Amino acid sequence: MAVIIDAKPLFQRIREEVRSEVSKLKDAGITVGLAAILAEDDPTSKLYVSKKVKDCAKTGIYSEVWEIYRHPPASRERELIKLIRELNLRHDITGILVQLPLPHYMDLYRVLACVSPEKDVDGLTPFNKGIWMSSYDPRKNLLPCTAIGILDLLDHYRIDVSGMLVVIVGRSELVGKPLHKLLLDRDATPVCVHRKSRRAAELIAEADMVICAVGRPPELCHVDPFKLTGDMIREGAIVINVGIRRDDEGNVYYDVDFESVCDKASYVTKNETVGYMTRAWLLKNTVIAARIFGEKLGREKIHQLNR
Ligand code: GUN
Repeated sequence: MAVIIDAKPLFQRIREEVRSEVSKLKDAGITVGLAAILAEDDPTSKLYVSKKVKDCAKTGIYSEVWEIYRHPPASRERELIKLIRELNLRHDITGILVQLPLPHYMDLYRVLACVSPEKDVDGLTPFNKGIWMSSYDPRKNLLPCTAIGILDLLDHYRIDVSGMLVVIVGRSELVGKPLHKLLLDRDATPVCVHRKSRRAAELIAEADMVICAVGRPPELCHVDPFKLTGDMIREGAIVINVGIRRDDEGNVYYDVDFESVCDKASYVTKNETVGYMTRAWLLKNTVIAARIFGEKLGREKIHQLNR
């Protein structure tokens, strides 16, 4: 029977630490403010954003939600970019989050490139990607929340990935790509498999760790569905579930069939648990971004005094 990985206690501890940091920043005259943007009228995205807003309220972070999906598709990307440019200039908004996925007719890279790198709490702008593709410090730089959150969770459970064959199912900007790099930096052998991979099943069957970040449960998706079951992994593998989808009735579906995997794995995450780590690191990144902003303001003030 597998050890069940539960992130909730760690999340609660991080949230308390963030609350104290936010209060210190307020005392120093810096508002910590997060703007979350919904570009799609999607139940999963709306639920995630509502949880993030609640976390902000609990830690003293000011927050705003922008429902850009109310604009018609033809003008939505233009409105989204206009909004991001306005938020970039505001002093009471120190972090900007564009909830993903974007509608298929929007250009993800064009949109993300408009976010000011200093306010990029998702770590997805070209500048921040450059940082985490080279050398970084998660206490000072902005890294994608789910990827760094998973590594933090593994550290908490003293799971050392060095030397492991880690198969990541999914190659998203948010999870697959950054996780691949962060795992390499920890001496793992990460492999990203996706819908075109020919040997996905073989690699999964050999893996020491399988991280499932697809979000296409067979219950909802008939094209390229994915669900990890116990018969697909090797005895003693470590299994991490990232992918979650909700339908309009509020039913929840996961990438991992928890029951069957539990009998074979050595460790397995509770199905919702990685979401707590994403939320924890969003709060941490929001504080990091506010500090960067505060330092920049300080520098500008010194610059003005010197002129
Ligand atoms: N969609 C699912 N998780 C996330 C996340 O961490 N950030 C953003 N921007 N969108 C998401």
